Amino acid sequence: MKRVLSGIQPSGQLHLGNYFGMMQRMIRYQEENDLFCCIVNYHALTTVHDANVLSENTLQAAIDFIALGMDPEKSTFWIQGDVPEVTELTWLISNVTGVGLMERGTSYKDKLARGLTPNMGLFNYPILMASDILLFGGELVPVGKDQKQHLEMTRDIAQKFNQTFGDVFIIPEPDIAEKLQMVPGTDGQKMSKSYDNIIPIFDDEKEIKKKIMSIVTDSTPVDEPKDFSAPIFQLYSLFLDEMGIEDLKSKAEKPGLGFGDVKSSLYETVMDHFADARSKRDALMNHKDDVIGMLKSGAAKASSVAAEYLEKARKATGISYGG
Ligand code: ADP
Ligand code: TRP
Repeated sequence: MKRVLSGIQPSGQLHLGNYFGMMQRMIRYQEENDLFCCIVNYHALTTVHDANVLSENTLQAAIDFIALGMDPEKSTFWIQGDVPEVTELTWLISNVTGVGLMERGTSYKDKLARGLTPNMGLFNYPILMASDILLFGGELVPVGKDQKQHLEMTRDIAQKFNQTFGDVFIIPEPDIAEKLQMVPGTDGQKMSKSYDNIIPIFDDEKEIKKKIMSIVTDSTPVDEPKDFSAPIFQLYSLFLDEMGIEDLKSKAEKPGLGFGDVKSSLYETVMDHFADARSKRDALMNHKDDVIGMLKSGAAKASSVAAEYLEKARKATGISYGG
């Protein structure tokens, strides 16, 4: 049984990219693995500077994940900030992390390129993420392709720590599904909260419909075959099995299919796929105290694992003293 671990930032609405890139796989993994999953609110603090927004988004992200199928009974599911030991480990491992390694971070460089004035939290983001994984002995880390470099950094940091101070940490493996590396947004670029191109999972129906109707398509007329690599077909395929994909492909490649119809049908499919999750979410919204209770017991479970790894790291570095 492997320890599978991942986290998601509570920094906005969840979208199809998050779901297919990471959440759906985490939910499936919990059946046969020792699953650890956290809502990383310390990470979100690097960009969200409104206390009400951060605290509301944090609980909302947890509710949404549970509504989608995360089971706090089967898994260890918690809010990162409820296990603050992660910040102590961040400090310990910072001392074996090269500044150059952080400066080469593409996600960091992207944010600079988009004009964000960086704070030290943003610069140290990958070290905090490494700490998330190492503090709980994560072996397999399901993420989207954009997190691949952060995982490589985590492995580098863990190896450097082990070489310097002795074997403390497990070296984690990334788990990136080929087919789901990059879920396209409505404009055909990577779907991301930062690009204003998302299809949200839990918005109201009208809003979801509007977003789906706005997916870019080319001007191929109805009576001509369509390019099956277009974003609309990529998105639709996420909801289909192999046979469904073949069927859609043959329809797309024959004349007669209109993009408007494909969009309407995708909208129905999306609503259908998330119908149970949407009603579960409505129910959970009326029982927030129960959710908070589940998160606190998740934090207690996570803390006991964290205590073990942290103590090993404190001993290995000499921070624990006197025997
Ligand atoms: P965003 O880019 O919207 O800010 P996050 O960085 O919070 O999304 O991503 C949370 C998780 O979802 C990560 O594991 C990330 O790799 C995955 N993910 C986000 N967008 C996509 C996408 N378009 N395709 C595949 N995976 C994605
Ligand atoms: N950086 C990740 C993202 O933006 C979120 C994250 C934080 C994470 N800690 C993690 C992912 C630990 C996997 C494991 O998506």
